[in-house]
Amino acid sequence: MKIVIIGGTGRIGSKVTARLRAQGHEVVAAAPATGVDVLTGEGLDAALAGARIVVDLANSPSFEDAAALDFFRTAGRNLLAAEAKAGVSHHLALSVVGTDRLSASGYFRAKQAQEALVRESGIPYTIIHSTQFFEFLPGIIQSAAQGTTIRLSPALVQPIASEDVAEAVARFALQPPTNGIVEIAGPDRDSLSGLAQRFMSRIEDPREVIADVHAPYFGAELATDTLVPANAAWKGSLDFEHWLACSEFAAGYDQLHKLH
Ligand SMILES: NC(=O)c1ccc[n+]([C@@H]2O[C@H](COP(=O)([O-])OP(=O)(O)OC[C@H]3O[C@@H](n4cnc5c(N)ncnc54)[C@H](OP(=O)(O)O)[C@@H]3O)[C@@H](O)[C@H]2O)c1
Repeated sequence: MKIVIIGGTGRIGSKVTARLRAQGHEVVAAAPATGVDVLTGEGLDAALAGARIVVDLANSPSFEDAAALDFFRTAGRNLLAAEAKAGVSHHLALSVVGTDRLSASGYFRAKQAQEALVRESGIPYTIIHSTQFFEFLPGIIQSAAQGTTIRLSPALVQPIASEDVAEAVARFALQPPTNGIVEIAGPDRDSLSGLAQRFMSRIEDPREVIADVHAPYFGAELATDTLVPANAAWKGSLDFEHWLACSEFAAGYDQLHKLH
């Protein structure tokens, strides 16, 4: 079966591509580097010819409000129009747990726009809402850094390893479309500020994490349960310690740290 992975060279996309290829499927990893651009439409029709399933794992290169909205709107319109022409029978998109509760954030308004286009497309779909990837922790910390302090909300998080995300995406892509949202998460809950502190202690980052209920998360204030699944979620198996021990990312980070 032919499956197209939009963003097939990215963090999740490359892992999903490898998993589905290992199962014997014909998989196209579509991205600008492989000649497919969802913003200009370049290479899209050729990539989708004969495809039954499209998995959208692209992300905006910029998280700035207007740029992210423009990316997800333009990409969504171009991609879904090309899928309708090609007769695609399952569109799967990866979004974020809590997207519907995060309208104060420009990035999440862009994800809401992406999801609305999918729902209104008429193409059978599955939207996966994932919690934060462990690999995204440095990005979260960086976004909250002010000099030597990191101000983060103590709201609950239930982070998931990108390997587990890829496993869930590959599984749901091969199942019938749900025409709704399925939630995926890691095995354990922690506070966002506590998890950041734990990670920074492990990599010996001396900066201090301050728990602040008003600290914005990419522009939005969080309630205790904004970022955790509302319903029973598919759960990944890798917890923080296992992820840290076996992730290529963490190993690379550790080595980088030892060099300095
Ligand atoms: N980070 C989190 O914690 C989290 C949590 C839940 C859900 N998500 C969602 O997961 C999705 C994937 O995230 P990720 O971290 O795997 O992303 P990523 O590593 O940044 O990969 C993004 C992919 O999109 C491709 N891309 C960018 N512009 C494109 C264009 N114009 N046309 C075609 N492809 C394009 C990139 O190709 P190039 O590399 O060639 O530019 C790359 O393959 C995102 O939609 C995000 O919202 C993230």
